[in-house]
Amino acid sequence: MPGPACYIDDRVFTPSTRRAARQPPELPALGGHFPRAQLTFLLQLAYSGELAATRAYLGHRWSLQEATERAELGKIIRDEVRHRHCLLDQLAELGSRPVPFRERKMERVGRAISTFCQVGGWFFPMYGAARLEAQNIREYEAAARLALAARFHHFIDPLLDMAEVEWDHELYFRTKASSHPFWRFVPKWPVPPGRERIRTSFEEYERARDRPVQLVRAPWLVR
Ligand SMILES: [Fe+2]
Ligand SMILES: [Fe+2]
Repeated sequence: MPGPACYIDDRVFTPSTRRAARQPPELPALGGHFPRAQLTFLLQLAYSGELAATRAYLGHRWSLQEATERAELGKIIRDEVRHRHCLLDQLAELGSRPVPFRERKMERVGRAISTFCQVGGWFFPMYGAARLEAQNIREYEAAARLALAARFHHFIDPLLDMAEVEWDHELYFRTKASSHPFWRFVPKWPVPPGRERIRTSFEEYERARDRPVQLVRAPWLVR
């Protein structure tokens, strides 16, 4: 069974198992400036990522023919907006704020995807959304681990809650996309472990003696 660090393995948020440079070798990385800076950076990325997702899903919803699907997308959009509010509060507690240039960039990205959804048919928006949501699960799991390392313990539950909601979103979009004949022809991503693994994986990480600090790197699209 892969450990938590393996599960966070991703091309987007680099799963460095390297120890933080400022970490004393005899201690796990707890508290201090480095985990807090990494957490802040990750929450800024997540905040702007949620903006792109919200804009994209608004266009996606508009393109859908079925009222049921439009209602389902509406619920997902409301989830993403709630995530933005939560992240904004957490950034404020960290003494930080969203990065304006990244907000503008992700606004444009979201609007571009939204436009694509108008002309891209039914399948590709569902497929793309599922891939995006798979990344979002890992993003919030990584953020919860950083919150532990940075000693912002009250962030952990909300971050794991958001990971669980993203898990629901991934399942929804993947189930939709996989019902389409095109599904056979497109590259797949690893199916996320069961929803309960989000909590158990975090608990394993929490109990571990050695807790490497995640090194966060921005995906090329949002740099
Ligand atoms: Fe979200
Ligand atoms: Fe989502």
